[in-house]
Amino acid sequence: MTTATPTHAFWLAGREATGDETFEVTSPWDGRTVGTVGVPTEAQVEQAVAAAAESAAEFAATPAHVRVAALDHVVRRLTERAEEVARLISAENGKPVKWARGEVARAVSVFRWAAEEARRFNGGTAQRLDTDAGGTGRLALIRRFPRGPVLGIAPFNFPLNLSAHKVAPAIAVGAPIILKPAPATPLSSLLLGELLAETDLPAGSWSVLPVPNDRMPSLVRDERLPVVSFTGSGPVGWSILDSVPRKRVTLELGGNAAAVVLADWSSEADLDRAAQRIATFSNYQGGQSCISVQRVIADASVYDRLVPRIVAAVEAQVTGDPSDDATDVGPLISEDAAKRVESWVDEAVAAGARLLTGGKRDGASYAPTVLADVPADATIACEEVFGPVLTVASADGEEAAFAAVNESRYGLQAGVFTHDVQAAFRAHRALEVGGVIIGDVPSYRADQMPYGGAKESGVGREGVLYAMEDYTYERVMVLTGLEL
Ligand code: SIN
Repeated sequence: MTTATPTHAFWLAGREATGDETFEVTSPWDGRTVGTVGVPTEAQVEQAVAAAAESAAEFAATPAHVRVAALDHVVRRLTERAEEVARLISAENGKPVKWARGEVARAVSVFRWAAEEARRFNGGTAQRLDTDAGGTGRLALIRRFPRGPVLGIAPFNFPLNLSAHKVAPAIAVGAPIILKPAPATPLSSLLLGELLAETDLPAGSWSVLPVPNDRMPSLVRDERLPVVSFTGSGPVGWSILDSVPRKRVTLELGGNAAAVVLADWSSEADLDRAAQRIATFSNYQGGQSCISVQRVIADASVYDRLVPRIVAAVEAQVTGDPSDDATDVGPLISEDAAKRVESWVDEAVAAGARLLTGGKRDGASYAPTVLADVPADATIACEEVFGPVLTVASADGEEAAFAAVNESRYGLQAGVFTHDVQAAFRAHRALEVGGVIIGDVPSYRADQMPYGGAKESGVGREGVLYAMEDYTYERVMVLTGLEL
């Protein structure tokens, strides 16, 4: 079904603009047109970048209360429009509306944290220098200043919240931001632009430009944008870093996150809870989260009791129309994405994996799936599936389980189900990941936490304060001749 929709303007230096061409945003669930979006011309992109560069000094000097007021405004307006925004996310992304509501709540939290951090950031610290004779009468004042305009490149899987993670820290530190949303899901970012347009931020300090991916490299290389914050696939992320090795680049890339269930997590209630959490978080958003549970590694002593529970909990996931409140699992972002997942499952099964449930595709939807006995060299064992597929394996003891987690090119987050605080500390030490979640799945993320990967899962950290640090650098001022 195609519905005529008005063309959404994009945001060029804080003002609405339309380009010469448009593209359609369609629902992955039923293919209907959710919106028509203007594409910025080359000249408009140039205008936005020039405006960002020109506003950098002014924005860096903006009083904190002005930036905080803008951030607080977004908190208020997103809260007021929460249901509308959740419905929009669900329509353009195919994410079940219950998960979209959670995403809006998280974006509110990101802006709230940014407002709070902006109030106390960069108060300056002093360092005495008279610890050596040459420093007598001297004092160093250390403050952080923006590196310059930020290019934020957001993915489709959390179209609002991962845009918020680029934009809010930039406003908090006074760094102009150019946000490039994912082509499949630009509408949530454009709506965020609507809220920013209601603030008193300097016009040049922000733009939302839905430029096609093939025009991204020239933006990435533009020297007026010294900071690039990218969330997306590994190959694209690493090619960005390779193309601009002297820029400040943050990469939030993929993972094939593991949930470990240790031997002490063994009561009926323990296993029921682990199975429920694993089933929910291997399938939330169709598994399209970098920290969705892809691998379960269970101690051999609990494996046989855990796996049937996981299969039952996976089969209880409600699939279907993402706009329905009851739906747990909607479609993937596109039919191509679902076909890729299907081909990886088929390849694993052909190589000897056992399909415990699922394994069926219907258009862009893929059934929640559990695989056992997956050969170590199967694509699905090595790569990020980004779909509702879970593999289960047993391990003989804690050391073997932790080693299995680390047998991956990736290292974003891991979950460890244990009651043993010493095992928790051993996991924290042993696991080569950016975050270890004890007593739960790897998919837990609070937006103020440092978030990012080890190994091929990326470089740098997001999480409001950590992004603020990333977007800024320390500049020391030494005062001389003081009577200290
Ligand atoms: C991601 O997919 O990397 C983001 C996960 C999240 O923010 O929960």
